[in-house]
Amino acid sequence: MSGQGNGASVPGTSAQAPQPPVVMLPDGRLQQPAKLGAVVSDALRRWYLETEKEALRGDVKAQALLGQMLIEGYGCEADPAKGREWAEKARRRGYRMDGRDGGRTMATATKHGSEFILQTTNQSLATRLWRYALGDTLFYPPGIGQAEQVGPYTGSTGPCLVRFRDSQLTTAQLNSWILSGCSSSAAIVRVYWLGGSPGTATSREDLLTQLAAAGAPPGPVRLQVFPRRHEAALVDALPAGWQLQPVGPEWVLNVLQLSGVEGEAGAAGQPAAAPPERQRQAAAAADPQQPAEQQQQQQPAFLWSLQRADDLYNYSPDRTKRIPDQLCKAAAKLEEALLAAGLAATQGVAIDLGAAPGGWTHVLARHAQHVIAVDPAAMDPRALASGRVTHLACKAEDAVERIQELAGDSGVGLLVADVNRHPVTLPDMLRPLLPLLHPGAPIIFTLKFYGFGFTREAQWRGELAAALGEDFERVQLVWLLANTRHELTCMAVKRAAPAAGGAAAAAAEEPETAAAAAQ
Ligand SMILES: C[S@@+](CC[C@H](N)C(=O)[O-])C[C@H]1O[C@@H](n2cnc3c(N)ncnc32)[C@H](O)[C@@H]1O
Repeated sequence: MSGQGNGASVPGTSAQAPQPPVVMLPDGRLQQPAKLGAVVSDALRRWYLETEKEALRGDVKAQALLGQMLIEGYGCEADPAKGREWAEKARRRGYRMDGRDGGRTMATATKHGSEFILQTTNQSLATRLWRYALGDTLFYPPGIGQAEQVGPYTGSTGPCLVRFRDSQLTTAQLNSWILSGCSSSAAIVRVYWLGGSPGTATSREDLLTQLAAAGAPPGPVRLQVFPRRHEAALVDALPAGWQLQPVGPEWVLNVLQLSGVEGEAGAAGQPAAAPPERQRQAAAAADPQQPAEQQQQQQPAFLWSLQRADDLYNYSPDRTKRIPDQLCKAAAKLEEALLAAGLAATQGVAIDLGAAPGGWTHVLARHAQHVIAVDPAAMDPRALASGRVTHLACKAEDAVERIQELAGDSGVGLLVADVNRHPVTLPDMLRPLLPLLHPGAPIIFTLKFYGFGFTREAQWRGELAAALGEDFERVQLVWLLANTRHELTCMAVKRAAPAAGGAAAAAAEEPETAAAAAQ
């Protein structure tokens, strides 16, 4: 039988007839011990094929492992010459075997995730992407990895980069996530894939030496350099044989200079000066969990990685920043907030306070059976066109009774508000409507900050949680990509109803346990 990868012939591969399950008898013996070897061979074979796939995609760690597997015939028919080629390829790209176990790393090798770096159109968007990773939302797909802002940065200046380590996403999964979000596709201009273990170079000369040693890939290459101002110089200095082709390449060479970058507008190659005291304070305020003093970590001067160009992310500068048939820019906020809340559909009625001209209402009409839009101002007729929207042309404070009547038995499944209110006064407007919400129903509202208000974020979060009361949980302030610089979005969820009978019933059944729990 022929294997798929290198034509190797291996007994017990997945292409053979399915193996019966491995059954252990009561005395500990295997029912069919002869078949266990085949099961193990199958697992090894699949590991080999997966490693080969990653190696062909350009993952240097997988290339080193593939070399070892071929040399030893691990999961494949031994082919030492081919194995040495792969091992040498990985070594030339800067990969070092760790030397334990005589340099054989297979026994200790585990499948680590990949790294990638997202570049945004401005530093504040990079901060927001990083903050999302710290919060408790469903904004990112599972397995995105651990996020870290690349510094030095302040609230508004910096390299505009967020680095994700140990990601389990494939390039295709990451691209489809970016492109599916209106805000993310407008904010993210480049994706630098670094694979499992990017090359590190201490200087430009070291980088060029490593690239020369690695050799040109077998196909045209697109160069993605950060900061971009170094791109032209690197094009001129690349070793012979590298065939550059920005459009339709087969490979992408990512090169990033991460230490001492001041952002695209900074001086070429000069280390960034320590930010002045005011900038330092602004950075600490924007990122309270990562003081500015700790941002300048020791990094190698250059990170580089050669990757296959399949699924290369392409930012289109003329891509519409609006969602299809969007009524106004504000709609992007609700689209993003619903994504972060993981809300695809609303049970019952949705209430939109401060609804005019109707961008949010228009979005909600796709998520709920009935939307009650409250605003004294006129609504855009397109927002009412679905026939599932009732416009109450009055202030929210005067609409409570009418909303109660309209919601009726179906209750309220979602409450959103986008009025120009400060966090101190907004809860007063929401409070009379909160009892109408179903248990588990989310509330989403925009907070407007002026002056230094934004820097007291932790204080506002506490005050909002107190104002919403015990009935609400998971109160968080999210800085949506679609928010302005003076807005945050508050999201919270109404607690699920206590189990039937509640604490009293529990106390009657198990008095000691309930009393202990209450203490
Ligand atoms: C930023 S706009 C809302 C934009 C809207 N979310 C959209 O997507 O089209 C703020 C709206 O809040 C309304 N507003 C202000 N105070 C209000 C109140 N007390 N009750 C209801 N609406 C109010 C204003 O009339 C204004 O139309």
